[in-house]
Amino acid sequence: MISPVLPTYNRADLAFVKGEGSWLVTQDGRRYLDLGAGIAVNALGHAHPALVETLTEQAQKLWHVSNVYRIPEQERLAEMLVDLTFADTVFFTNSGTETAELAIKMARKFHYENGQPERTGFVTLEGAFHGRSTGAIAAAGSEKMVKGFGPLMPGFTQIRWGDHDALRAAITDQTCAVIVEPIQGEGGIRALPDQCLKGLRDLCDSTGTLLVFDEVQCGVARTGRLFAHEWAGITPDIMMVAKGIGGGFPLGALLATERAAKGMVAGTHGSTYGGNPLGCAVGAKVLEIVSQPAFLAEVGRKAALFRQGLEALVAAHPQVFEAVRGEGLMLGLKCRAANTDVVKAGYGAGVLTVAAVDNVLRLLPALNIPDADIAEALARLDRAAAATPTAA
Ligand SMILES: Cc1ncc(COP(=O)(O)O)c(C=O)c1O
Repeated sequence: MISPVLPTYNRADLAFVKGEGSWLVTQDGRRYLDLGAGIAVNALGHAHPALVETLTEQAQKLWHVSNVYRIPEQERLAEMLVDLTFADTVFFTNSGTETAELAIKMARKFHYENGQPERTGFVTLEGAFHGRSTGAIAAAGSEKMVKGFGPLMPGFTQIRWGDHDALRAAITDQTCAVIVEPIQGEGGIRALPDQCLKGLRDLCDSTGTLLVFDEVQCGVARTGRLFAHEWAGITPDIMMVAKGIGGGFPLGALLATERAAKGMVAGTHGSTYGGNPLGCAVGAKVLEIVSQPAFLAEVGRKAALFRQGLEALVAAHPQVFEAVRGEGLMLGLKCRAANTDVVKAGYGAGVLTVAAVDNVLRLLPALNIPDADIAEALARLDRAAAATPTAA
């Protein structure tokens, strides 16, 4: 018999009733160190006092009015994002997937307005993940995500990782935009080198193609810069943001230059809930905290500390782990044992991690994880590794 909850997830038999910083607590009081942070969502950990206060205060004033009216909290958050990034304008959503849909629409409309309506194609990378809508699965293209859901939205070409010739060949006079994650999350914590991001920018400029970055997972201070592409010293035309921006409240944002957004006039897009006062009040508080230079520097310091410990962990358990991957606090352990076995052993050791493809274990802790919790996480990962079944 089908469960009341549609069974699209292989869920662990764990239910939490409380969160405190980097810790999650079950009904019977068991405490787990959370290195998944709701898959890179709880950027400031669970129940951060400033976020609880902001949400509570806003909840007592106003929850929802719809986009028929001006929303001061939305205007404030948009202004903050415009001030802090390449963007001139922002559309708010409730999820990352919705930003993918708008990115596709906005990019096509740009070329349509420019008198090139034939430019409708998108180039994406193998291993990409942009969400689960029909547009987003066409962009990702992996068999696991698209099988049985066809016919897919046409116009998407996936390029093999690192195949520069294929990339150049795929961009034609029918191409609308290239969509990439500067660091793939679901795809196994794979970072595009700065040189590749710069090369992509040049290629897009010389061919009149728009460049879209999906920073849903790698953005919002996770790498020690507000957005991951900043390390490469280039900017996109359009950027997808979600997860960390709401700190746990469902919130996404599609950022764009004025030029890229020029076709998106009144009536071309909308959302009932997107940009509601609750989400935007929380988002502004998250952004106020994580955009501080001192906060970003701390992310870098904590990341170096964590990474050093992870290198030692890999050296201590060569049958379980192969290498450390990632940037900042978007870290991955490429496994030799099955990554899902390490995740399960982690439940036994009281530490929560997330599996990704390519047999990678993802570590996406709260960005303000205390040093003592990093040390505890390493000790628990060590116990989990010792308890993981290996071939040898
Ligand atoms: C890079 C990236 N893009 C898009 C999405 C989709 O976001 P959401 O699940 O909020 O719709 C995700 C979610 O994991 C993601 O990691």
